[in-house]
Amino acid sequence: MTHMEYQFILVEPAFQKHIALIRLNRPKELNALNLQLMLELKQALANLDQNEEVRCIIITGNEQAFAAGADIKQMESKNSIDLLKIDQFETWDQIRKTKKPIIAAVSGFALGGGCELAMTCDMIIASESAKFGQPEIKIGIMPGAGGTQRLTRAVGKAMAMEMVLTGKFIGAEEAKNRGLINKVVPDELYLDEAVKLAKEIAQMSPVAIQLAKESVLKAFESGLQEGLYFERKNFYLTFASEDQKEGMNAFVEKRKPNFKGN
Ligand code: HXC
Repeated sequence: MTHMEYQFILVEPAFQKHIALIRLNRPKELNALNLQLMLELKQALANLDQNEEVRCIIITGNEQAFAAGADIKQMESKNSIDLLKIDQFETWDQIRKTKKPIIAAVSGFALGGGCELAMTCDMIIASESAKFGQPEIKIGIMPGAGGTQRLTRAVGKAMAMEMVLTGKFIGAEEAKNRGLINKVVPDELYLDEAVKLAKEIAQMSPVAIQLAKESVLKAFESGLQEGLYFERKNFYLTFASEDQKEGMNAFVEKRKPNFKGN
């Protein structure tokens, strides 16, 4: 089967020779990452990892959005213990363990969990209109899927601090200059460019590629595990605040939040 059926993603295992494509597919919600979508993504990546024909995987969204973050409407009413029990990060941990290289082809918004998902991939190709950010702070929470750890490693402390504490977005050009992404191309070319990179990788020995990916990640991630767990506890903790309810409720009601520090 070349086109497996999922609800929120489209998967083409044989998009091109040795190259699989996963398209996040909740366009009306700007590809907000609900729990089901993430489970599907985990399953699809596990399948592609087992598929001997596949040597490189591209994850993309659409022109408007790679993903505008975790699904705020799904999280709004949750408390810290609900999140602890749902344990969505087990899914993220599995995605991170994918053995084959993954390229994120990003256009439009890559925000919050969307930026974190792009950073969980191994390389990022972006269109000129791509926007990266960790705007969680604006809804009374903080990043929870690696944002404080991976963004800091990628762009350095000062810029990561500014982005995480103010929620400001950066454009593709700035993201490139700061080392967050590999390449910026005109809007109509971002997927082609990702395929070009994937093709180059797909020509190499899949065994050497797997071991080399694992080794680069080792350099990047020493100490990351500890950071991720630390971040996760604090993320859960933000859901004990009234400000989280206010921030998310204000988003849903399309008004400005009034944070009180409770
Ligand atoms: C749920 C979302 C959403 C999200 C957008 N939508 N982002 N729904 N969760 N993260 C929905 C909107 O409610 C709206 O639905 C539709 O998508 C279109 O969005 P608009 O806001 O109308 O579009 P626009 O005015 O162009 O603004 C785009 C935007 C804005 C700037 C990206 O949507 C926005 O600020 N989104 C939230 C970004 C964010 O805070 N992300 C972090 C989430 S927390 P309706 O039905 O109203 O038309 C997070 C934590 C991760 O990611 C933790 C670990 C998993």
